[in-house]
Amino acid sequence: MREIITSGLPIWFNEETMRLEFREGLTVDSDGGKDAYQMKGLLYQEEGMKADEHCYDFYRDIVFEKHRALFAKYDFRYDITVIMPGTVNSECKKTSGHYHGYIPGEQLTYPEVYEVLSGEAIYILQKVKNFDNPDEEIEIGEIKAVRVKAGQAIIIPPFWGHCSINGGTDALVFSNIAVVSCPLHYEPIKNKHGLGLYALRNNGEIQLVKNQSYKSVPDFKVVTPLENSDLGIEFGKPVYQEFIKSPEKFDFLLHPDRYLDAMEAML
Ligand SMILES: [Fe+2]
Repeated sequence: MREIITSGLPIWFNEETMRLEFREGLTVDSDGGKDAYQMKGLLYQEEGMKADEHCYDFYRDIVFEKHRALFAKYDFRYDITVIMPGTVNSECKKTSGHYHGYIPGEQLTYPEVYEVLSGEAIYILQKVKNFDNPDEEIEIGEIKAVRVKAGQAIIIPPFWGHCSINGGTDALVFSNIAVVSCPLHYEPIKNKHGLGLYALRNNGEIQLVKNQSYKSVPDFKVVTPLENSDLGIEFGKPVYQEFIKSPEKFDFLLHPDRYLDAMEAML
């Protein structure tokens, strides 16, 4: 067992079972996971894959009782995902990926915060504005692979579809703060067999490969994130604790229009 100290919470990781343990009264509402067969339609190559290969687990709505009202006031939820090490047919294990829906009465979709607690993540982000029009071919305006290390966090700005990839050789543990009532759109990603890039691991090296199901995938950038203390994102400072300390800094999750340039400048 080892403590996931980067979370600032009493969370422990059992390296044998690959499960998280929540201690000292920290509560978790629900959990679940996905095996390779449940990722069908989203993978680089599915022929011959090991169907019961375990890909990831998620733990939803992690909170101390004393903080529950604050999270509810903002309509926020803190979750953790653990992506297992290893590959499925040489593709690094990943989450399904989705787009966020629109904020009621606004022209923008909901942002989200991702924080790496242990291991190394690659977040594939693609900017798409017509994801909710089933009659139109999905058009990726921009695509980035963001490499994020333990202790670092990123903001997914409005319109950026995203999936999380284990870019390291150990388990990847990351948290997210999301708006509870944010609609999630998985279908437009599934219709294209994943996001615009796949991460393959061959001889220890990661290679990013374009997804040929899209009409075109723009040239991609591999970037590392920048912090922004005005938005509550300071590397080495746990996001859960930053929210408790200064919840007003996380206003960008509900009113992103005021913070668009600042959010995009961090990637
Ligand atoms: Fe999301």
